[in-house]
Amino acid sequence: MFPNHRPRRLRTTPAMRRLVSETAVRPNQLVLPMFVKEGATETVAIASMPGVVQHTRDSMRKAALEAVEAGVGGIMLFGVPTTRDAVGSGGTDPNGVLNAALRDLRAELGDETVLMSDLCLDEFTDHGHCGVLDAKGNVDNDATLAVYAEMAVAQAEAGAHLLGPSGMMDGQVAVVREALDAAGHLDTGILAYSAKYASAFYGPFREAVESQLTGDRMTYQQDPANIREALRETTLDLTEGADLVMVKPALAYLDVIRAVAEIADVPVAAYQVSGEYAMIEAAAANGWLDRRRTILETLTSIHRAGADIVLTYWAVEAAGWLREN
Ligand code: PBG
Repeated sequence: MFPNHRPRRLRTTPAMRRLVSETAVRPNQLVLPMFVKEGATETVAIASMPGVVQHTRDSMRKAALEAVEAGVGGIMLFGVPTTRDAVGSGGTDPNGVLNAALRDLRAELGDETVLMSDLCLDEFTDHGHCGVLDAKGNVDNDATLAVYAEMAVAQAEAGAHLLGPSGMMDGQVAVVREALDAAGHLDTGILAYSAKYASAFYGPFREAVESQLTGDRMTYQQDPANIREALRETTLDLTEGADLVMVKPALAYLDVIRAVAEIADVPVAAYQVSGEYAMIEAAAANGWLDRRRTILETLTSIHRAGADIVLTYWAVEAAGWLREN
């Protein structure tokens, strides 16, 4: 008891605090999500994500190279097509924007970084859902799986090292694994969006990919109230062959990250999503938050909760700060 115990002793000097610091995020644990817009001749700003842009294929190549030079661990690519249809043909087309961009980046970067791709139909469908619809307009799980299988092979052939199935369809990891193996892509891995919540924090992302969605994703993404369901989804994905698992969003779900980290025998990732980015940028722009300290605090907290890897739109800038430490 006090006065024998004075925890403040370990906080007296910067050197002392450095000595006893428990958690440090390394640049190689950060992944940069990037948007590439089909046919774009110049970058397009995303109003709700100041500092993030829709890239041209050219600017994306340069930005990706910069990210790798900054020491980030990987790049997660999203495509923004010019035309969309009911079945998301742009996602399976080898010349669709995402597959073309993957080919560009793989040619430019080889194995210098880990190239990841979003494996989902929402960017490519004219209704904005993550899967194809049945006659009644509901998202058809099993019909969607067949499209995911085709998309997986296209992305692997385009050069992705890791595929990120993010549609929350039942059985998607198993189907993707099987399709990859059948096509001989034994080394292409799966970063499974295992616990993905139906979150309001995806708001700015919908602008970023020009989403056509009018309803919501409640029949496939998880209820924010549930954690047991997240563990069930994670267990299923591990059984189906996930190489890494992910929780998304991050900051509002630290308890889920912790719980998933406790049961997973593979690396755990967390996605600090567009709304998390927008909130801090908006507050910092108003002078209400110290931008750098807030960003680093969130990254440290997400890592402390149990995420080995963090997907963040600040990956390049944060990598620079973390190298200075
Ligand atoms: C689906 C997907 C979404 C995000 C990543 N993959 C959107 C959604 O589920 O509605 C959101 C990422 C973010 O908000 O930063 N392809």
